[in-house]
Amino acid sequence: VGHIDDVQELRKAKPTSIPQRFVRDMAERPTLATVALSSSNDIPVIDFSRLLEANKDEFLVEISKIAASCEEWGFFQVINHGIELDLLESMEKVAMNFFNLPLEEKQKYPMAPGTVQGYGQAFVFSEDQKLDWCNMFALGVEPHYIRNPKLWPKEPVEFSETLEVYSREIRKLCQNLLRFIAMSIGLNGDTFEDMFGAAVQAIRMNYYPPCPRPDLVLGLSPHSDGSALTILQQGKGSSAGLQILKNNAWVPVQPIPNALVINIGDTIEVLTNGRYKSVEHRAVTHKERDRLSLVTFYAPSYEIELAPLPELVNENNPCKYRRYSHGEYSKHYVTNKLQGKKTLEFAK
Ligand code: SIN
Ligand code: FE2
Repeated sequence: VGHIDDVQELRKAKPTSIPQRFVRDMAERPTLATVALSSSNDIPVIDFSRLLEANKDEFLVEISKIAASCEEWGFFQVINHGIELDLLESMEKVAMNFFNLPLEEKQKYPMAPGTVQGYGQAFVFSEDQKLDWCNMFALGVEPHYIRNPKLWPKEPVEFSETLEVYSREIRKLCQNLLRFIAMSIGLNGDTFEDMFGAAVQAIRMNYYPPCPRPDLVLGLSPHSDGSALTILQQGKGSSAGLQILKNNAWVPVQPIPNALVINIGDTIEVLTNGRYKSVEHRAVTHKERDRLSLVTFYAPSYEIELAPLPELVNENNPCKYRRYSHGEYSKHYVTNKLQGKKTLEFAK
């Protein structure tokens, strides 16, 4: 990443116009006309505490809400998720402290081309590709062998310590959610965990500075996630920025304080033979406000072979995807630009 492609540096320079590299073609610009604004369009909210308590009726209501969310939206928000708010705040703080370091400091952790670990712009492969109005810092977390210790900031020590604790808590939430997601589609609760082996977990921190022309740029290009499940924390006081594609309109996700946004990734779409959708989403920017998102990806171990589960394939639902390993898919995902749901064609 050259100096000029770093959006925080770009913003500091107070340019009078947006560099062409960031200006989207007409069809990709986040014009209001394509955005659904009705609040009846809000993504479903799941009360996690009701899934853990003994009341069977409440439990079943929440499980059926999960089923409807995964079929119709591919997204839901969770409230009462049980993760300490102090921990969410600490993670946000160490991430922001990192982004606020001088560029030279951040560039000590460079993202190598074709990888998605370190600081930089992921998914950029050609000179004519448009750039996202976003700075990213991404790290592999679990299993340990995927970590690149050189990319974990040594100073301040709070960064790694907080990330360790945060990742453990988020991992537990992922495992619980996968259990409930399996049950919601009529599978044994252990189905996904049993299959995933030593599950891969990675975090990507996205920082979107304010942008003088939010109408011309995208914070993050449209894509579906290559994970099984994604857990997204939005910075306190961040502007709304995440939008998901539903019936050909972009629906903004309204931040709920202390809630986490959950979405189904490509792995679950394949395993459920398309019943549960990995939905295309993007991020837009704001003229005055910045935004931080902390995104955890949870996925099967790389050697795991994936294909639609036999229970979910029948005459009415013929098999839609081929068999492949998650490692092959992951490699395909990180070596292609983000382009809506195109990546999933690999599995067809
Ligand atoms: C993502 O899709 O990885 C993040 C989108 C966001 O910043 O909300
Ligand atoms: Fe995403």
